[in-house]
Amino acid sequence: MLKPRDPIAGLSPYRSPITSRTGLSLDLNESMAGCSPRVLARLRSLSAADVSLYPKREFGERLVADFLGVAPEQVLLTNGMDEALSLLFTTYLGPNDELLFADPTFVMYPILGEALGVRVMRLPSGGDMALPVPDLLAHISPRTRVIAIANPNNPTGLAASRANLLRIVEAAPDAAVLIDEAYFEFCGETLISDLAHHPNLFVARTFSKAYGLAGLRLGVLIGAAEQIGYLRCFSLPFNVNSVALACLEEALADQAFVKDHVAQVKDGRARLSHLFDHLGLRYWPSQTNFVLVRIGATAKAFVESMQRRGILVRDSSGSPGCDGCVRITVGTPAQMDGVLPAIREAIAETRRS
Ligand SMILES: Cc1ncc(COP(=O)(O)O)c(C=O)c1O
Repeated sequence: MLKPRDPIAGLSPYRSPITSRTGLSLDLNESMAGCSPRVLARLRSLSAADVSLYPKREFGERLVADFLGVAPEQVLLTNGMDEALSLLFTTYLGPNDELLFADPTFVMYPILGEALGVRVMRLPSGGDMALPVPDLLAHISPRTRVIAIANPNNPTGLAASRANLLRIVEAAPDAAVLIDEAYFEFCGETLISDLAHHPNLFVARTFSKAYGLAGLRLGVLIGAAEQIGYLRCFSLPFNVNSVALACLEEALADQAFVKDHVAQVKDGRARLSHLFDHLGLRYWPSQTNFVLVRIGATAKAFVESMQRRGILVRDSSGSPGCDGCVRITVGTPAQMDGVLPAIREAIAETRRS
């Protein structure tokens, strides 16, 4: 009988995080502001040739390289950042190697590591959920081939300092150290300028969040030209479709849209934090487009109560160390006018019962 590789046979089927699209989706950290009108105009102007011909990824890589101030050879465009993670892990992780990261973090790291059948080393963060830097440093061994750090992190929203991240990069010269900057625009700190000095460092970005292009699937991996060259050897030649590539130029050109959106998100997350202070709920100061809050034993009832009010939020209780926690994406200012009272009501309702 045909059997898949052992690590695959042992996996449980991956379940999409999309539970529903009825109501306001504050459960997936997507942009609630949509995308730049310039991107929509470009989409509407697409010609038959734009879709009938194979896409030319190099064109997009040059645009992104110019935007980031790096060489085009350092940039690999991918089908969302998820694909960049998959390519990076596959390039460096062999059967006896180890993937190292701290929990809680982005769910795809363990999923990809387990599918590859490598040793997945997860270190718990403390009660403050900050990156456990000394513990990570202590666990670097010759087997460590990839270290993955989301900065700022999902689901906590917390960012580690550049100095601490560089300590890890420098302590593991034989491992690929990935700094996943999916939420960079909401935080502002990046390790892009450090790439020149650290050939084992990779930075990943996405257009799914601040640019509002999650549906188009556009991710970026940036690293030393030599290392990116290895990934290019086996990345599929047409992994990024022509529609996404056509929109990329407009998305990058409309920085005013990104700037406005980021300002609105920062304002919205401050409103959420203020409300949680008022309600006496513990939350983590976020550098992203969402806030993690500890509701406690009634987290599930709270999520259901919010859903009855037409708002989807994410029960994060299943993430390590996140018992009783809920993650809430920041909506537009008008949406937040309705979300904040809904949270108050849902908390009151769950406290009553
Ligand atoms: C930390 C982190 N990295 C990567 C991704 C994946 O981004 P993409 O939509 O580009 O695959 C996400 C999406 O939620 C994320 O939170």
